[in-house]
Amino acid sequence: MRLNLLSVAVFLLTTALAGKKTVPDPDVNGKYWINGEGISASFVPYGASISNLLINDQYGIQRDIVTGFDNASYYGIDRQHPHFGGVPGRYANRIKNSSFELDGVTYHVLANENPTATHPDGLDTLHGGPDGWDWRNFTVESYTNNSITFSIVDPDGKEGFPGEVVSYITYTLGKMTWDFKMVAIATTKKTPIMLSSHTYWNLDGFANNETQSTLNHTFYLPYSGQRVGVDNILIPTGDILANKLGSVNDFWSAPKQIGHSFSDPEIHGNCGFNCSGYDTCWLVSRDQEGPYDWRKDGFVARLQSAWSGIQLDVYSDQEAFQMYSCNGQNGSMALKTTQGLFDNPEFPRTIPKYGCVVLEVEDWIDGINRPEWQRGRKQIFEPGGDPYVLQASYRFSINSTAADF
Ligand SMILES: *[C@@H]1O[C@H](CO)[C@@H](O)[C@H](O)[C@H]1NC(C)=O
Ligand SMILES: *[C@@H]1O[C@H](CO)[C@@H](O)[C@H](O)[C@H]1NC(C)=O
Ligand SMILES: *[C@@H]1O[C@H](CO)[C@@H](O)[C@H](O)[C@H]1NC(C)=O
Ligand SMILES: *[C@@H]1O[C@H](CO)[C@@H](O)[C@H](O)[C@H]1NC(C)=O
Ligand SMILES: *[C@@H]1O[C@H](CO)[C@@H](O)[C@H](O)[C@H]1NC(C)=O
Ligand SMILES: *[C@@H]1O[C@H](CO)[C@@H](O)[C@H](O)[C@H]1NC(C)=O
Ligand SMILES: *[C@@H]1O[C@H](CO)[C@@H](O)[C@H](O)[C@H]1NC(C)=O
Ligand SMILES: *[C@@H]1O[C@H](CO)[C@@H](O)[C@H](O)[C@H]1NC(C)=O
Ligand SMILES: *[C@@H]1O[C@H](CO)[C@@H](O)[C@H](O)[C@H]1NC(C)=O
Repeated sequence: MRLNLLSVAVFLLTTALAGKKTVPDPDVNGKYWINGEGISASFVPYGASISNLLINDQYGIQRDIVTGFDNASYYGIDRQHPHFGGVPGRYANRIKNSSFELDGVTYHVLANENPTATHPDGLDTLHGGPDGWDWRNFTVESYTNNSITFSIVDPDGKEGFPGEVVSYITYTLGKMTWDFKMVAIATTKKTPIMLSSHTYWNLDGFANNETQSTLNHTFYLPYSGQRVGVDNILIPTGDILANKLGSVNDFWSAPKQIGHSFSDPEIHGNCGFNCSGYDTCWLVSRDQEGPYDWRKDGFVARLQSAWSGIQLDVYSDQEAFQMYSCNGQNGSMALKTTQGLFDNPEFPRTIPKYGCVVLEVEDWIDGINRPEWQRGRKQIFEPGGDPYVLQASYRFSINSTAADF
């Protein structure tokens, strides 16, 4: 009895000393579920990733419309690491030559993409390096019925980046909405910061019995007449290109199906060497409207599936928007048990090429290597300066636009 009391006291003391917060436990799969009206979602500490997003389709059937894994422990085991639903950081997308200059000093960060004989680790850095934020477990800071906040402390020198960065990621569900706010501060040195949410969507939950592809989803970028020009390994060249009316990258003049321009020869090579599809950073240009309230004054992107009737409108304060059409998927990644068709030989329970789309609110990619773009205030942070802030509101609706708009 005495011993038991003692161990209880020791346990309480060590818990208190460790400053442990009392957050409710995740479910048996290690997932933290939150609820809104007509929507629920789960998150895992690995990459602060969204793991499930459930809403009812036009017939009232529940669909899980994001990709992920069935349990939290598998995120760190999977070797393909497609950055399912996570927060890429501390600098999202690609860094040319894995280097950048700040105040006359050249910094080298760890390469992890496009390996060659002379550069076995790669020619560039993707999503913050081989141990970027979405390879690490965040800490759950708070967890309520409709909201969860994760935090990460990224040490000085990690992956080659200067200075410590502390970040908080808050996800909140409302009435058919998923909102998020990402804040990061440079605590010790000047450093680049650019975050995003790397969520993969299939608005049919892979349950469409006519196609598992998202090429039939309709996509619209009303403010995106321009895009970032890239070379054949998707590194920005510095050129800002016009998305000419009717061209493959024109999603601004009118909504169109993602696969609409796939018979246009220009689609080939549009997402890098020998790649047909999209992995494109469009600019979001709304300054001509004068001051605007990003929460109210129009979505920056809309994705819709006529099959499920589900529509997603993305509102954000960010000035660029990436869409990736899952050109690299090849049927080797399993669906979650909450998705797909069962016992349908035509559609195996895996993600096919073009079976998903990644939507990323972000700033102009590789802006740290493009001083002529003048993105410094948006991408370089230092102690005592403004914090990095990214806000977005993902709003869902059913049957709200005519099929294919
Ligand atoms: C959690 O939120 C959902 C949706 O708003 C609501 O139906 C449910 O009653 C809430 N549960 C608790 C325990 O507050
Ligand atoms: C959406 O529209 C379809 C076809 O018109 C209809 O069958 C369905 O009931 C509608 N669903 C909702 C939720 O409005
Ligand atoms: C965890 O999830 C993975 C992938 O979704 C699955 O292969 C594995 O069987 C699951 N493990 C458990 C214990 O459920
Ligand atoms: C990350 O968390 C998962 C469960 O959410 C756990 O299985 C895994 O071991 C953790 N990884 C590390 C490196 O702590
Ligand atoms: C790329 O980085 C290497 C060092 O990692 C440097 O020697 C080289 O000059 C850089 N190349 C370009 C084109 O900036
Ligand atoms: C697809 O599913 C719908 C609704 O369940 C059904 O009416 C239709 O026959 C199915 N089509 C095919 C090709 O299996
Ligand atoms: C996909 O869209 C095309 C063009 O609108 C249409 O012809 C085709 O029937 C659609 N396929 C499916 C499976 O919905
Ligand atoms: C180009 O892509 C096609 C289809 O993905 C593939 O069959 C072909 O081998 C590729 N060619 C080269 C030169 O990589
Ligand atoms: C599919 O893609 C994965 C990840 O890139 C790769 O490891 C695998 O070899 C590919 N499989 C086929 C059949 O191309």
